[in-house]
Amino acid sequence: MDLGFSGQTVVVTGGGSNIGRAIALAFGREGARVAIAEIDASQGEKVAREIRDAGGDAWVVETDVSSWDSVTAMVQRVEREVGPIEALVNNVGWTQEVAFLDPDARVQWEREVQINLWGMINCTRAVLDGMVERQRGSIVSMGSDAGRMGEFRQGVYAACKGGIIALSKSVAREVGRFGIRVNVVCPGTTMPDSDEEAGDSSMWRGDFGRWNTPEMRERIAKLYPLRRIGRPDDIADTVVFLSSERASFVTGQTLSVSGGYTMI
Ligand SMILES: NC(=O)c1ccc[n+]([C@@H]2O[C@H](COP(=O)([O-])OP(=O)(O)OC[C@H]3O[C@@H](n4cnc5c(N)ncnc54)[C@H](O)[C@@H]3O)[C@@H](O)[C@H]2O)c1
Repeated sequence: MDLGFSGQTVVVTGGGSNIGRAIALAFGREGARVAIAEIDASQGEKVAREIRDAGGDAWVVETDVSSWDSVTAMVQRVEREVGPIEALVNNVGWTQEVAFLDPDARVQWEREVQINLWGMINCTRAVLDGMVERQRGSIVSMGSDAGRMGEFRQGVYAACKGGIIALSKSVAREVGRFGIRVNVVCPGTTMPDSDEEAGDSSMWRGDFGRWNTPEMRERIAKLYPLRRIGRPDDIADTVVFLSSERASFVTGQTLSVSGGYTMI
């Protein structure tokens, strides 16, 4: 199926690691001009090289999605040097487990809100002026089943993801008239296969790394009706489809790609 991305510019935030890496590579295979907006530019460059080695086009723009100035500079640079942004994937996210009752959690909450929620707000707002002017565009943001069902020891992260879902629906209602679609994908547990696939800022290099053992993978898989955990490509294929013209009548939707873990 031709998804129509040949020569189109797409931005993938956090495209250096794990799911974002798979999304960037998938867009590269579709012939898109892929801009990887990454705080870890050297990890982003590894992925850009993979795209170029496979015959695709890729750029890395060092970006901190939690900073409005950094995000607007990234959008201006991409539109100037790569092309008009056809699709944005708000992929950056970050959490570590912490109880809501933990008296010392406040610093972590601030970071979670900055990265997960402000990151998505900044990037979404920054690409919209150009999309409205061109009367076309797609935004897909990474939610989480935590944002749909709540999650033990991930309360503020879940709140951010719930916020991403609510904001996406609200913006979808506002910008649909300009031909712009806004959707959310909620991955199930999806771990990098190797350290190479996750940079130093990946959450899988921190506290979450301890989940990434064969025993834990097996235990988690048992919770899923399809009896396996997610692969980064599972998420990437859905994101690329939702970003494409093939999904031109889909907006304001939240789709869990989690092996049936969530059936909403
Ligand atoms: N992996 C999962 O099991 C899972 C499950 C549910 C939801 N999600 C969501 O999917 C998305 C991707 O998850 P992942 O596991 O691939 O994450 P990851 O932590 O492996 O990768 C995130 C990438 O974002 C980059 N990044 C971090 N902070 C940044 C910032 N401020 N500005 C720019 N780049 C920044 C990191 O360098 C890293 O390359 C996230 O939004 C996450 O919340 C993941």
